[in-house]
Amino acid sequence: MDIILLGPPGAGKGTQAQRLVAERGMVQLSTGDMLREAVKAGTPAGLKAKAVMEAGELVSDAIVSALIGERLDAMDIGSGAIFDGFPRTEAQAEVLDLLLAERGRKLDHVIELEVDEGALIERIVGRYTCAVCGTGYHDRFKQPAVEGTCDVCGSTEFKRRPDDNADTVRTRMAEYRAKTAPILPFYEERGLVSRIDGMADMATVGEQIVAVLDSRD
Ligand code: AP5
Ligand code: ZN
Repeated sequence: MDIILLGPPGAGKGTQAQRLVAERGMVQLSTGDMLREAVKAGTPAGLKAKAVMEAGELVSDAIVSALIGERLDAMDIGSGAIFDGFPRTEAQAEVLDLLLAERGRKLDHVIELEVDEGALIERIVGRYTCAVCGTGYHDRFKQPAVEGTCDVCGSTEFKRRPDDNADTVRTRMAEYRAKTAPILPFYEERGLVSRIDGMADMATVGEQIVAVLDSRD
């Protein structure tokens, strides 16, 4: 089963994708994570993407489509793919259809996480991750059990994303409204879209997503 998680920055796409990976053995394909890896590694794509991401704007369709195509080739996605943060434009939505068709796959669900944009700024500005294992935390909503120590790996080093400041988040949200939200009708026409209340607590959002996935198995 291949699905898209769609929603503005901070809607909980990454959080819910990680739950599905843990609970269902699905594979998370996050273009944001791929781009951050490319920036860290200093690849040609990463060098081009760095300033664009720090400004909160969208990286070019060509770069993102190439990254996702490479990742699809490199990974075994037999149990299903979760597209997290991709597609973000109409052109990317068309690329995804082609990439899946070439591999004999097709989309089963597009899950839109509906959220209140005002609350998202707090979610994003407060988040941080373990620098070693990548587990996500939040200043208010999810702190480690022992202050300053990762629950999963025991590391005491954490990091924050350079684009997680209030100004950049506003640009990221404007990009979502202008370029990504307009792709919903493309999937609505095909009866693929389910809307979930992304303002509920993380466990409830997760249960609602699983209910959608199980509704048309
Ligand atoms: P990307 O990495 O995709 O970031 P994003 O879409 O802005 O999404 P986020 O990672 O900020 O949020 P999320 O929805 O995953 O929320 P999360 O689960 O972390 O993209 C970054 C940049 O890369 C883009 O701006 C662009 O430049 C570029 N890019 C990426 N893909 C691209 C593409 N396809 N085309 C072009 N450019 C691209 O949750 C947020 C916080 O809230 C966490 O702290 C979490 O703990 C907390 N939280 C989650 N759910 C809940 C809940 N239900 N209740 C309370 N707190 C919650
Ligand atoms: Zn850790």
